[in-house]
Amino acid sequence: MSFREDGYAAVDWAARYLDRIGELPVLAQVKPGELSGKLPLAAPEQGEPFANVLRDLDDLIVPALTNWQHPRFFAYFAVTAAEPGILAELLAATMNQVAILWRASPASTELELRVVDWVRRLLVLPEGWHGHIEDTASTSTLAALIAARHVTGRNVVVCSEHAHSSVDKGARMLGMELRKVPVGDDLGMRTDVPLDDVAAVVATVGTTSFASVDPVRALAERARSAGAWLHVDAAYAGSAWICEEERWSQDGVELADSLVVNPHKWLMLPMDCSLLWTSRPEQFREAFSLVPEYLRTPEDAFALSEYGPALGRRFRSLKLWAVLRCFGAEGLRAIQREHIRLAKLFAGWVDENPAWELVAPQRFSLVVFRRHGTDEENEAIVERANAGGEIFLSHTKLDGRYVLRLAIGNARTTEDDVRRAWEVLNR
Ligand SMILES: Cc1ncc(COP(=O)(O)O)c(C=O)c1O
Repeated sequence: MSFREDGYAAVDWAARYLDRIGELPVLAQVKPGELSGKLPLAAPEQGEPFANVLRDLDDLIVPALTNWQHPRFFAYFAVTAAEPGILAELLAATMNQVAILWRASPASTELELRVVDWVRRLLVLPEGWHGHIEDTASTSTLAALIAARHVTGRNVVVCSEHAHSSVDKGARMLGMELRKVPVGDDLGMRTDVPLDDVAAVVATVGTTSFASVDPVRALAERARSAGAWLHVDAAYAGSAWICEEERWSQDGVELADSLVVNPHKWLMLPMDCSLLWTSRPEQFREAFSLVPEYLRTPEDAFALSEYGPALGRRFRSLKLWAVLRCFGAEGLRAIQREHIRLAKLFAGWVDENPAWELVAPQRFSLVVFRRHGTDEENEAIVERANAGGEIFLSHTKLDGRYVLRLAIGNARTTEDDVRRAWEVLNR
C-alpha cells in the first residue's frame, strides 16, 4: 500500500466528484435500507487495497449521497465545503493533534485562539471576548446553557417559538424548564415576558425557518436587569456580519453573554466548525474547568478543554485558517453578496407572479414562499421537485400553513441554477 499513490488517487477522486457535481441528482435517489442491503454485515478479516474503497465510493456511496456540494442544493441552510478547507481536513487528520491541553498541541491551541479572533474582528464583535471552536451549534448552545445555569443558579430557558430545536434539546438534556415566547408581526420574539427566575434567554439572529431576527438589544437589556444570561444563536446569519450592509442584524449582540456562529454554514468551511464566544470568559471557564492530576503540567498555559464539554479536540482551526487565507475576507464577502443578490432575485419572481406569494420578509440568502392553494398542493410541489433530482428544497410551517424555503449557500450556485429552480417549481 502506498500512501502517496493512494493519496493522489483520493485527491483525483475528490476533484472528479466536484467537477461533475452539477450532473448528479441533488437528493439521493435511493430508498431507505437500499445501501444497507449492499454493505457486508461484518468487517473483512484480511486487509484490502485502498483502491477497493475508492471503487466502492463510486459503486455504493455516491448513489446514496444527497449532494450538499451541488449548486442546486437549496434545502435547510445550503452550505459549501471550499477546496482549501477540504485539503486542510486531510492535513489535520495527518497530524492527528489531540489538543487536550496546551502541551498536547501548542499549534492547535494557539492557532485556534488566533483564527477565531480573526473571525471576531471580521464580524466586528467586541474585543476581549473569548472564542473557541465546538463541533456544532447544538454543542455551542448546550455549553452556553450550562454556563448560564452555573452563573445564575437558575433553571429556566426562554426562547422564541421559532428558535432552533437545539435549544429545546439542550434544555431537555440539562433538565431545564423551557418557556417558548410568541413572536410579533415581524416574526421577532416578543420582549414583554417576565424573566425574574430565568437562567438564559436565547435570542436568534436568522431563524432556521424564516431567517427572522429577534430584538437582541431589548432582550439583552431585559436579561441584564433580571440577572439572566443572554445567548445569541446566529449559527447561520452571523457569518453575514463580514458584510457591512448586513450588520443591522447585529444590533445589541455586543451585550450578549455568549454567541454562536457556524462557519460550516455560511463561511465555506466543511463540516464541522462552530464558533462559540463569551464576554464572560472567567465564569464560562469556571463552569467547565476540571483538570485531573494526570493532565496537570508545569506550564501556566491555556487549555481550551477548560471552556467546553470535550477534552480531546480536533485541529479544526486549520481549515478555518486555510479558508480565510485562500479566499480573504473580500473573497468570502463576494460569495455571500452573490447569494443575497440571487435570493432577492428569486423573491422578486415570486412576488411578481400572482400564483405565488412571499410569506415572510426576504432576509439574508433565504426565501420563504408558497403557491396559492392548499397545503397538500404545496407539499406535492416540493416532493415532485425533489424527486426529479434537479433541485432540492425543504419546507417549514408558518401559522400552521405549509411553506417552501429556498436557501442559497453554495459557492457554485449561479443565476442559471436559481432560474432553473423557479422553472422546475412552475413546471
Ligand atoms: C439558527 C440555527 N441554530 C442552530 C442550528 C444547529 O446547528 P448544528 O447543526 O451546527 O447543531 C441550526 C441548524 O440549521 C440553525 O439554523
